[in-house]
Formats: sequence, C-alpha cells, structure tokens
Amino acid sequence: MIRWKQVSALKDGDICSETIMGSAKDDIIIKNGDKITHKSIQKLHQRGIDWISVYEEESFDTAVNDLFSEEKLEKFSTELSKVCEETLRDGRINVEKTQQISDEINQEIIEEYGEYVVPSLVKLKKMDDYTFTHQVNVAIISTILATEKYGKKKEIIEKFTMGGLLHDMGKLWIPEEILKSNNRLKDAEFDIIKKHPEYGFKIAELSGVQDTAILNAIRYHHERWDGKGYLQGLKEHDIPLEGRFLMVADVFDALTTKRPYKVEWEPYEAVSFIVKQSKKMFDPEIVRLFLLSFGLYPVNTKVILNTDELAIVVGNRRGSMTRPIVKVIRDDQQIEIDLSQEDKISIKKVVKIRMLKD
Ligand SMILES: [Fe+2]
Repeated sequence: MIRWKQVSALKDGDICSETIMGSAKDDIIIKNGDKITHKSIQKLHQRGIDWISVYEEESFDTAVNDLFSEEKLEKFSTELSKVCEETLRDGRINVEKTQQISDEINQEIIEEYGEYVVPSLVKLKKMDDYTFTHQVNVAIISTILATEKYGKKKEIIEKFTMGGLLHDMGKLWIPEEILKSNNRLKDAEFDIIKKHPEYGFKIAELSGVQDTAILNAIRYHHERWDGKGYLQGLKEHDIPLEGRFLMVADVFDALTTKRPYKVEWEPYEAVSFIVKQSKKMFDPEIVRLFLLSFGLYPVNTKVILNTDELAIVVGNRRGSMTRPIVKVIRDDQQIEIDLSQEDKISIKKVVKIRMLKD
C-alpha cells in the first residue's frame, strides 16, 4: 500500500514509492524503491519538498507451507546434538541414529518434491548451538539440491543427507576457543580449523561409514571450484561431486544465519552471492540446480512490481526462476499472483523492508 508522508515525519528505512526528479535533466533526488536515509531527507528539505509517497509497512500473511515445522527442526537438532555428545564420549559416531534422522528428513523432502519449488525453508535460527543446527540445515539444503538432480531416488539422495548431517563432525575436535572466537582468526588458528574435514572423514570411517559418497561429502566440503579451498586445494571436477554439493549448501546456510560476529543475510542476497561465485567457489552446474530449487527470489523476498505495488514472494514454480508467486494487498485483501501466468506483471526490484510481522 502506498501512502503520503510528510518529509519531516520520514524515518530512516522508509521506502520511497516514486521517483522524484530535480529541475535539471538526470537530476534524480530519490528513486522509487530507494530506502530513505538521513541524507535523502536532507536533500528533500533542501529542494523544498514537503510530502512524498512511501510504501506503507504491510503485515502480509505469509503462512506458506513450510517444508519442516520449527518443532520438527528442533527435534532433528536435539537428536543430532545427542549423537555429537556420544561421539565425543565414545570416539565413534552412532551411525544408526544419524541414519534415522536422515531418513525422516529424506521422506519429507521426497514427498514434497513436485511442481512447486521448495515453498519455504524455515531455518533453525533460535537455537544457541550453531554446529548441530547448521548440520541439520545443510543436510536439508543438500538433500533438496540432490533431489533436483536425481529426483526421488532415495538410495542416492540419502547420501547427501547423511553427508550434510555429518559434514562438520570434525569440529568436535577443534578447541572451542578457536571455534567460538569473535576475533579475526590468526593464521595458525585457521590452519587448525582447516583440519576439520579430515578429522570428520576419519571419525566417520572409524565409526563404520563405508559409503564413499558420504565420506567424500565430509572430506571435501571446503574445496572450491577454482582450487582455492582446503584442505587439498582440488579443482573443478577433481573435487568429488558430493563435496561440491555440500560447499554450496554450507555457504548458503552460513550466509543466512546470524552469528555473533555477523548479521544474517536475506535469502535473496545469499542467492545473488551464490550466483556471483559460480565458477569461483562453486560448480556452475550446482549453482544451476540451486536456482532451480530455490528460485532467484526465495520465499519471503520483498519486491516492488512494475505496478508499483509492494509484494512478498510466497512460492516459486519449478522452471519459472524469475517469475515467482507473490502476494500483494489490494483493497485490504491479500491477493496471490502467479507471475509465471501473468505476462504483464513483473518484478521491478527487490527491497529490504521489514514487515510488521518480521
Ligand atoms: Fe565445515
């Protein structure tokens, strides 16, 4: 919804809903979709502009079908934290228990796989212990990517789930003061962290994991497509496929998660980063699978349409990466528009705006 607001009442972060030109050609004071800043308020005052139109904060009902409920995710995470505790105590991973978590994740993803791209990825954000929640998130993301490639072949995709659940197990042997350090790591400390894929691989092997695909996922998840990763610095197709999958899932989750030393990125920003890093950090083929899975505009991305309406992405249809399903508010009604079916309506730009419900 658009409403008029007095310039003196504007707040940092309001989003302008019109383009205001000065008297000279090309003199743009503020553009439609721009965030209001202290500087732009000053500019508007200087030009004697008293009123402008802004996008009203909306409270969209974004109750889309989440792939997993928060309770389910917490359950996975708690179970995995128990596996980790036991691993530290016994020096062995309870592979059977991990397999049970993996089976549950798998079943749900296989059932959901269809015309719609993953509706929403509710992530575990609230829990304190990053390592377990991160491994659950990465397992889910890599399973979704694998499903995109292999369809519903459980016997294949479960290896990516197991790989995700176990990929950072080696961190159990990295001193906490290094892992939890909020300071920039010294080279020597980073060298220690770099060993976790190898530690993870060894403990998994020792615990009876024999499947090469799972072991590869753990061992090579920090190798980069351009050869600048660790631990072996392998390049392109020399990196086992499972490692290349895990790399994308791992980075996407890390970027979109809040950490003591960084804010979480919006999913849209993380997707853009993944695309930019194609052929640098990531295998371009897996970036393509990633876009097919999550779309260019993931669920909850806020956008401005060419109709100048503020909208929120609520779903993506397989094969329509740039034309998601969005919700707008018209006459107080929330309307869903499937942009893949509407050739006159398109996305003009993405905005970072906090919704009332956020
Ligand atoms: Fe890692």
